[in-house]
Amino acid sequence: MRTVVALVFALILGAPAYAGLWETKCASCHNGTVAPSKKSLLEKYKTPDAFMSAVRKAVLSGKMPHGLGYRFVAKELYGRFPTLQCRQRCKNCGRF
Ligand code: HEC
Repeated sequence: MRTVVALVFALILGAPAYAGLWETKCASCHNGTVAPSKKSLLEKYKTPDAFMSAVRKAVLSGKMPHGLGYRFVAKELYGRFPTLQCRQRCKNCGRF
């Protein structure tokens, strides 16, 4: 509940004030046509961790470029960083 309140608050306050990471890095593709919109991603993935594992799948399957700073976008959208860590040190860890 607190998250919802924080999100609504962030959206009301944040939207007109500045173009966030989502707007500058993701929105060009995630417009609901090329890729799912912010709204539908937020509906589908309730936590930053669920969001990040979806990001990983999309990147590793070659649908989406790597290295766009997804963790920071997760922080922007959910108000906190994902806790999910790479299980093993692999060459893909630095990609996100
Ligand atoms: C070059 C275009 C492009 C950019 C830029 C891009 N994406 Fe994507 N993204 C895609 C495509 C294409 C998919 C796959 C959509 C599908 O499978 O239907 C995808 C999938 C995703 C998914 C998984 C969606 C799902 O339902 O499984 C997430 C989460 C996501 N992107 C987040 C982001 C974030 C956050 C950013 C900004 C840092 C970003 N994307 C930038 C093209 C892009």
